[in-house]
Amino acid sequence: MNKIPQQYKIIQTINHKEYLINGEIRKWEGKQANVISTLLCDSEDKEPLLLGKTPEMSADLALEALNSATDAFKQGQGQWPTMKVYERINCMQKFVKMMILEREEVVKLLMWEIGKNLKDSEKEFDRTVDYIIDTIEEYKILDRKGADFQNNSGVRALIRRGPLGVVLCLGPYNYPLNETFALLIPAIIMGNTTIFKPAKHGVLLIAPLLKAFEKSFPPGVVNIVFGRGREIATPIMKSGKIDVLALIGHSSSAISLQDLHPQKNRLRLVLGLEAKNPAIILKDADIDSAVNECISGTLSFNGQRCTALKILFVHEDVREEFLNKFAKKVDELELGMPWENKLLTPLPEPSKPKYITDLINDATNLGAKIINKRGGEKQKNFVFPAVLFPVNDKMKVYKEEQFGPVIPVISFADVSKPIDYMAASNYGQQVSIFGKDASVLGPIIDSLVNLVCRVNLNSACQRGPDIYPFTGRKDSAVSTLSVHDALRSFSIRTFVASKDNEINKAILRDIIDSKKSSFIRTDYYL
Ligand code: G3H
Repeated sequence: MNKIPQQYKIIQTINHKEYLINGEIRKWEGKQANVISTLLCDSEDKEPLLLGKTPEMSADLALEALNSATDAFKQGQGQWPTMKVYERINCMQKFVKMMILEREEVVKLLMWEIGKNLKDSEKEFDRTVDYIIDTIEEYKILDRKGADFQNNSGVRALIRRGPLGVVLCLGPYNYPLNETFALLIPAIIMGNTTIFKPAKHGVLLIAPLLKAFEKSFPPGVVNIVFGRGREIATPIMKSGKIDVLALIGHSSSAISLQDLHPQKNRLRLVLGLEAKNPAIILKDADIDSAVNECISGTLSFNGQRCTALKILFVHEDVREEFLNKFAKKVDELELGMPWENKLLTPLPEPSKPKYITDLINDATNLGAKIINKRGGEKQKNFVFPAVLFPVNDKMKVYKEEQFGPVIPVISFADVSKPIDYMAASNYGQQVSIFGKDASVLGPIIDSLVNLVCRVNLNSACQRGPDIYPFTGRKDSAVSTLSVHDALRSFSIRTFVASKDNEINKAILRDIIDSKKSSFIRTDYYL
């Protein structure tokens, strides 16, 4: 392994004790959990590096965070939900300015905690900053639209979007900053109050941002707690005081958390869950370009993306050419430390290499072959991507979301095969289709758009640009995220209606002129 550049070295273990409740950074003196990094585990005898320690907070503290958020919302009468829009925007602008100052530290910790390469770690940070800035602009647009009085059937109405209440935000380990903030930021700006618990990996990188949250928002608007999901989230959900569960992660967690809530109809859901996005390579596809897209689609961040291509369907006429070229390219990929910017990096979950190896063994025992030379080579914290062919419905990898470096391939003669696969699947996020003939593609696309929520023509699946809707059918998502849609997902339409008569007109005029209401107003924020 090359030497670690000075700027990315971990000089000493990070003893992280701070958490944020009720606008105050406090110190946790109780139990702590080890935060490890698997980056240096390149042989069986190397133990993970102890990066630091983080609070393993108790149920009592979780409930204190909940009470802080509930008090701040104050049944809709709190300072934050009733605040003028531009004041909330000012808070968010202050936050993003302070956040930018922590870029270097957060990027470094992204690399050490989850093994994301430097380029993608920087992209995760910068994309999050852009997302916040774009959200602020979008919120202004939404607010301007809400300044429009309507008058129908003798009823005058001012319709805006209002907050939903208290939001529990839980993000995933593969985008511990970006996807958590993609929930948290729109939730906050719309006037909700929040409790946020970082994912199981990518915890320490939140610590440098606590101060920015503390200094930017009124007490109780953002509460950040650390610990095990079961310990922290269980009492919070059981209280029945959560109005929105915002989670990007596994559907099993989403379901068990929902089940704990005593008043299910009160609970709104914003969920980004698993996917098994297929690529369909038609016989007239540009094979070289399809190979390149399928490499990045299946293996960016080692396949640990919900949008990753997780199964490839290749037309039998081009199967040989595609597989030869694809397997060769996979074998040329290099494994490296995150700061070396290779596509393949060590896996952050210590148990993942065994899981991937088990998937490979299951498939090969049932008749698949590993068709690339290096497929399945193992180090303690890593498995070299294995291209498996032919895959069938008896194999685990046919259905399971592998979230790692294994690529199942199936060949087809008729496109109904991948389409039937998608129709039978529990998931419905995206698909990639590779081909050229408009008369063939047109009708296929017409079917695909009704099975998933994004059809990528001659390109890999992805979430971005964040301005576009990100959602899924079936078990892949509930609600839609995008800069615009997330503001809608974390709010509800609410309005003031009045009979169209002189008295009401005069009252409304007076409220607007005297600026006595944050809701009834027609001002225009630049
Ligand atoms: O883990 C799922 C992410 O939303 C994927 O986002 O396509 O930008 O990597 P991405």
